[in-house]
Amino acid sequence: MKKFDITLAGEINLDLILYGLPSAMETERELLASDFQMTLGSSSAILAHNLGVLGARVGFITRVGHDPLGRIAMERLQQAGVNLDCVTFSPATATGVTLLLPHGTERHILTYPGTIFELSIEHLDFAYLTSARHFHMSSFFLQRGLTPHLPELFSRIKQAGLTISLDTNDDPEDQWEGALPEVLKMVNVFLPNRKEACRIAGTCDVEEATRILADRIPVVVVKMGAQGALARWNEVRMEVPAVAVQAVDTIGAGDSFNAGFLSAYLQDSSLEACVRMGNLAGAYSTQHPGGTEAFCDRSGLRQFLATRSS
Ligand SMILES: Nc1ncnc2c1ncn2[C@@H]1O[C@H](COP(=O)(O)OP(=O)(O)OP(=O)(O)O)[C@@H](O)[C@H]1O
Ligand SMILES: [Mg+2]
Repeated sequence: MKKFDITLAGEINLDLILYGLPSAMETERELLASDFQMTLGSSSAILAHNLGVLGARVGFITRVGHDPLGRIAMERLQQAGVNLDCVTFSPATATGVTLLLPHGTERHILTYPGTIFELSIEHLDFAYLTSARHFHMSSFFLQRGLTPHLPELFSRIKQAGLTISLDTNDDPEDQWEGALPEVLKMVNVFLPNRKEACRIAGTCDVEEATRILADRIPVVVVKMGAQGALARWNEVRMEVPAVAVQAVDTIGAGDSFNAGFLSAYLQDSSLEACVRMGNLAGAYSTQHPGGTEAFCDRSGLRQFLATRSS
């Protein structure tokens, strides 16, 4: 039996959220926030955390600095039961950090990438990554140190018999190319949001984008915020409405959807059940600030799943 259900390689950082600041921020003034939250951020780490809470055996390779922010981020993952045996430490670069300043429905997002851009192929223990049934990568376009080696990495992982899922998240350069077309050929499950699916498929119509992507990838699940998800596999097209909630904060809803979907996928559930579990986890995540705070409330999670699963 494999040591892990799923392994991930990717980025980690903390999100520092300052609420109540004016959107026009004068320099040389002391601007006071009305509330503050420090939470585990970054798509890969949020997914690893929430998968761990949902009961999957998760192995995560990332790179951090020798600093308190890196230590705190790793502690949060350990509390969720995520294995971090193969994490590497940068001697010179600080752990990345994101400052979020919400102003109503809009927000400033300021990121120092730090060690995020440093993770490279020599930091990945291949035997560790393949001691799982499934491999996942998030934030494809942030893995700058890995990018030239991603087709080779995906191909070796596939040859080792793992299934693979991918969530690109946004491309900060808005190019949507590079190694992506080659890597997509090796992906079993693709989990973009609506905008990402459209950009990658080269169309403004999400229905057409999903169809185009499903011609190339066995399972395509497009996340559509409060509308739920649109999925395609084989000849099946399935639209699954979101779970109705009063959303407090949608940061990390997509990563939580991935956690819900993959936790069911790893238990060999039907694809429809996987999408429903994705919607449940995404909706639950919106009930607290940040991407992992809701999942830290394990009894709240149990209750939500018990009462909202149809
Ligand atoms: N307001 C909401 N009400 C109910 N469910 C929601 C809401 N917003 C998001 N979700 C759930 O979370 C899933 C993912 O949300 P979204 O489409 O925003 O992903 P994303 O853009 O990839 O998010 P992220 O910013 O985390 O990358 C949705 O498919 C849905 O299941
Ligand atoms: Mg996303």
